[in-house]
Formats: sequence, structure tokens, C-alpha cells
Amino acid sequence: MMTELRSVGFWGTGSYLPERIMTNKELESIVDTSDEWIRTRTGIHERRIAADHEATSDLAFKAGEKALEHAGLSAEEIDLVIVGSCAFDMYLPATACLVAERLGAKKAAAFDVETACTSFIYGCAIGAQFIATGFYNKVLVIGAEVMSRIIDFQDRNTCVLFGDGAGAAVLGPVENGKGIRSIYLGADGSGGPSLLVPAGGTRLPHSLSTLEKREHFVRMNGSEVYKFAVKVMGDAALEALDRAGWKREDIDFFIPHQANQRIIDSSVKKLKIPMERVEVNLNRYGNMSAASIPVALDEAVRAGRIREGDRLMLVGFGAGLTWGSLAVHWAKPQK
Ligand code: ACO
Repeated sequence: MMTELRSVGFWGTGSYLPERIMTNKELESIVDTSDEWIRTRTGIHERRIAADHEATSDLAFKAGEKALEHAGLSAEEIDLVIVGSCAFDMYLPATACLVAERLGAKKAAAFDVETACTSFIYGCAIGAQFIATGFYNKVLVIGAEVMSRIIDFQDRNTCVLFGDGAGAAVLGPVENGKGIRSIYLGADGSGGPSLLVPAGGTRLPHSLSTLEKREHFVRMNGSEVYKFAVKVMGDAALEALDRAGWKREDIDFFIPHQANQRIIDSSVKKLKIPMERVEVNLNRYGNMSAASIPVALDEAVRAGRIREGDRLMLVGFGAGLTWGSLAVHWAKPQK
């Protein structure tokens, strides 16, 4: 059965970061925090903040447009648009539909994926199935977030951590035996309360009371998420390695989710990878949730750090709690 499936890889990547930079120093004037605390506890120096007129679909559109251009494709050649996020434009319609329309992807199906920071990995895993089976040929997967609209700028436990941005990738067929060599996804709903937006859904619809209690913003038990992340990042990478039949030393490039430098360091230690093979953008952008991994991927590809034949490990974790990893043998598109 497996031999009948097509190999799927990355045809192009793109990213978009809002212009406005918010430094740690600026946050000092908003909440009781310090540049020193943020740098030493998280590794973050600054983050981007979307302009008032920019919503998630605007960022996603710009990243998607660049990925299409990079892949040498027109929007009409795309069969499916997937947007991964935890901060969509609105409940209805799906942000992916808005993005597909704006891109001119008239023949594409479109839907959203919500596994928080793991959404891009989940999106790639889903998109790859359609191409592997021959059902579709090209899938645009975008991770986009305007976290600054769902975090509480009165809560120093969360507001210093996140940033806005979008990253995208076009998936398509590649040479047999190359491309995505393994996928590992997981979820543990028992950890849901550790990271959530309590109000605004059917469980607790918006009301004056929820607004007063600021329950429409992200709440996080930082130390619980930290413990989970440190364990799952290394474990998920090792599982994807095993499934691909690779060894730790085969990894040419490691792209971890960018939540905290200490979490990245611990997974790097577990995998025994030299730091120069690890892509880090957390210092410049903070945690962009679903956008962190595709933005890091795009920056590495465009800077020429990732080349044909390289073996990549992409690992994400997030609210849910969820996690996911991909082992990717970087290959040329099979046109
Ligand atoms: N500035 C100054 N002090 C602060 C700040 C801040 N911004 N935030 C918290 N503190 C204080 C706390 O109140 C606490 O004070 P206390 O001891 O007087 O109570 C003290 O700093 C230490 O707090 P800790 O929680 O022990 O700090 P820690 O070193 O664990 O770092 C952090 C906290 C950075 C949140 C860490 O736990 C972490 O990174 N957790 C994981 C978060 C994460 O990955 N989230 C994203 C998930 S992905 C997604 O789906 C969106």
C-alpha cells in the first residue's frame, strides 16, 4: 500500500511579519516586568505587533502570496488552502476561505486547523495525505497569528511571550523516497486547562461578566506548560526520527517551536544536535504560535541554510495540549 503513495515535499515557502516592533523596554511601561527578566527567562528581545487594520487573514494572505511566488505557481493551481491558527479573523467563515478568495485560489477547497502552536505541523500532515493519495496535487498550508488581540496586556505572565506573524508553505509531489519521511501527531486533552481562552465559546459565551473578568484573553499555567514542553519536544523529535528510520546525527537542521529558549535548549540537549543546526527566531519575534515554525523555515530556506538533500526535523507543541513532528528530506519539486 505504502509504495502506491506519492512522496510529498515543500515546493516553496513564504512569510510576513508586521512592521511594528514592540521591545521588552516598551513592555516595561505596560506591565510590571523588565527587559532583563524577559531575556533571561525566555530569550525574547522583541516581537512584532500587527497594525490596527491587520487581521490574521491579512498576514496569512501575504505569507501565502510569497510562498506561491517562491514555488512558481499561480493561485489557481492550488487545490487546497489550510490555515492553522488559534486567533482566527472570526468564528465564521473560516479564515482559510477568506485567504483563498483573496489569493484567487478559485479551484481550492479551504478550511482551518486549530491545534494552537502545533497547527502548522498538523496542517502539513493533513495536506500531505491528500497529495500522497493523489487526491490533490498542490496544497498551501499557512500558520498565521495575531496573538496581540487575544493576549491580556494586563497579565505579565502571558503578554511578554507572544508576537504576531505568518508563515506559509506549498506542498507538492517530490522525488520518490524524499520529502516528508515521517509524521508524528499527538494530543492530551487532560492538559487543556493549562492554556486556554475561557470565554467566547459555547461553554462560556461572551457577557459583561466575562469581559470584566478578562476571560476573553489567553490564560496560561506557565510552569505546567513548561514541564510538558520540555518533555514533549525531545520525545516527539525522537519518535519522528524513529519512524523515518533516521538517527540523531542524521539531522542537518532542527526547527523547533519557538516558545522559550530554555525549552529549545533542553530539546537540543536531548537530541545532541550542535546549536548551529538549530533555527531560532524567538529573540526577534517571540512566540508566534502557529507561525513560528513556518517563519523559521522560510527564513532558513531563503538564507540558503537549507539545501537539497538536507534532513530536517520540525517539532511543535501547543494548547490542547498538542504536539507534532515531521522528518523532512528536502527535495526539489517534481513538476
Ligand atoms: N516579568 C517579571 N516577572 C514575571 C513575569 C514577567 N513578565 N512573569 C512572571 N513573573 C514572575 C512570576 O510572577 C513569579 O513571581 P513570584 O515568584 O513572586 O510568584 C516569578 O516571575 C517566577 O515565575 P515562574 O513561573 O517560576 O517563571 P519561569 O522561570 O517558569 O518562567 C515562563 C515563566 C517564561 C512563562 C515559563 O514557565 C514558560 O516559558 N512556560 C512555557 C510557556 C509556553 O511555552 N507557552 C506557549 C505554549 S504554545 C501555545 O499553544 C500558544
